[in-house]
Amino acid sequence: MGAEREPIGVIGTGYVGLVTAAGFAELGSEVHCIDIDAGKIERLKGGEIPIWEPGLTELVEKNRERMHFSTDISDALERTRLLFVAVGTPPTYSGDADLSAVHAVVGAMPASDKHALVMKSTVPCGTGENIKRLFKDTGKEGFRYVSCPEFLKEGSAVADFLNPDRVVVGDDGDWAGDAVVDLYAPLEAPLVRTDIASAEMVKLASNAFLATKISFINEIANVCEETGADVTEVARGMGLDDRIGPKFLQPGIGFGGSCFPKDVSALKQLAGNSGYHFQLLNSVIEVNELQKRRVIGKLQKHLGSLVGKRIALLGLAFKPNTDDMREASSLVLSARLQAAGADVSVYDPVAEDEARKLIHGVRFATDAIDCAADADAVVLVTEWDEFKTLDWSAVAGAMSGTVIIDGRNALDPQSVRAAGLEYEGVGRT
Ligand SMILES: NC(=O)c1ccc[n+]([C@@H]2O[C@H](COP(=O)([O-])OP(=O)(O)OC[C@H]3O[C@@H](n4cnc5c(N)ncnc54)[C@H](O)[C@@H]3O)[C@@H](O)[C@H]2O)c1
Repeated sequence: MGAEREPIGVIGTGYVGLVTAAGFAELGSEVHCIDIDAGKIERLKGGEIPIWEPGLTELVEKNRERMHFSTDISDALERTRLLFVAVGTPPTYSGDADLSAVHAVVGAMPASDKHALVMKSTVPCGTGENIKRLFKDTGKEGFRYVSCPEFLKEGSAVADFLNPDRVVVGDDGDWAGDAVVDLYAPLEAPLVRTDIASAEMVKLASNAFLATKISFINEIANVCEETGADVTEVARGMGLDDRIGPKFLQPGIGFGGSCFPKDVSALKQLAGNSGYHFQLLNSVIEVNELQKRRVIGKLQKHLGSLVGKRIALLGLAFKPNTDDMREASSLVLSARLQAAGADVSVYDPVAEDEARKLIHGVRFATDAIDCAADADAVVLVTEWDEFKTLDWSAVAGAMSGTVIIDGRNALDPQSVRAAGLEYEGVGRT
C-alpha cells in the first residue's frame, strides 16, 4: 500500500502539522515536513517530539522511515504535489487572524502547474480566493488551492486524525481536490466536498458554535448559583435531548486554547469587516472573559481581601492532556490574583516548561500537595486526572485554610467535604 500512496509535504510542524504528517505517514505516504524553526527540525530529526500530545511520539517513531524533516521548502516541492499548510494564524491586536505565516508560505511557492497548497491552517473565509488571485497576479495561476480545515483536538489529536467526524475539502473540482479526497479515503469518514469559501466557513462556524455552547452553559451555571439549581443535573437533562446533545455542556471557568478564542474573534472581525455586526459572538466572548474573573469573586466571598492570601492553582494548561498554554484561563487568573495582592503557587503535571515562559511572580510547585502547602484556598483550573483522585485529607493537612474552588466541576464534592474542606463548584453546590 505504501508505494501507491501520494507523497505529501507538510509546512509547519506544530500541533496540527506534526499530527497530520504522522497520520498520513501511518496511512502509507512519504511525508516531507518543513518548518522555519531550525531547532525544532533538528529535534525532530533526532527523534525528539517538541510538543506533548498523547500517542504522537509512538506514531512518529512507528513511521520514522516515511517521515522526513527539513527547513528547506524545495525538499518538499521536489518530491510532492500536495503541500499541506499548517502554520500558525494567531490573532492580531485587532482580533483579526494574522496571516503573515500563511503569506510567507504562499510567497515561497514557485510558478507551477503540478503543485497545490492544501490549507489546514484556520483562515478567514475569503483567504483562498485572495491567495488564488495572488497566484494569478504573480504568474503562478497553475498552482492549485484546496481548503481542508482541521478539526483535531489537542489531547486527542492522534485519535481525531485517524477517526475524524468528517473531512471537509473545499476546492475548484480539479486534480488537487481529488488527490486530497483520495488521501483521506482510507479513514472512511463522511466527506463534505464543497467550494473553498464554504469549507473555510465550516471551520470558523464550528468553533464559534462550540464556544457559544460553552458560554451558554456557563451563563446557565451562573443563574443556577443564584437560584439553587444544580447545573450538572440541568446539563444532564438538556443533553439527553437529541437536538442538543451532551457535549460541550460542562460549565467551568471559561474556554481558552489556541483555537476557540482566536477563531471566535476572527469570525467576529470577519463579519464586521464585511459589514455585518455579529452580536451573538460579542456576548460569547464577553461571557467567557467574565467567567474567568468570577473565580476571584468566589475567593473574596470566602476570604475577604486577597491581600497576602495564599492561593494555589492546580493545573495551568488550557485543558488536560496538553502542554499548550495559549489563552489558558490560568494566565488571566494568576495575573488577576497577583494584582489583588495574593501570593500564588501553581502546579501542572505537564505544562510547567511552557507556563514558565508566560507566568511570572508565582511559585512553581513540585506536585499538588506542595502547591497546596500553606494555601488559604486551592483552585482547580485544569481537570487533569491526577487531581480528580487527590488525597483530600493530605491536601487539607497541607493547607492553612479550607477553601476549594472547583473551576471545572471535576471533583467529587463529598470527598472534598469529608476531608473537612469547603467545596464550591461552578453552578452546583
Ligand atoms: N492546535 C489545534 O488544536 C488546532 C486545531 C485545528 C486547527 N488549528 C489551526 O492550525 C494552524 C496551526 O496551529 P498549530 O496549533 O499547529 O500551530 P503551532 O504554532 O503549534 O505550529 C505552527 C508551526 O508552523 C511553523 N511555521 C511558521 N511559519 C512558517 C513558515 N513560513 N514555514 C514553515 N513553517 C512555519 C512554526 O515554526 C510552528 O512550528 C492554525 O491556523 C490553527 O488555528 C489548530
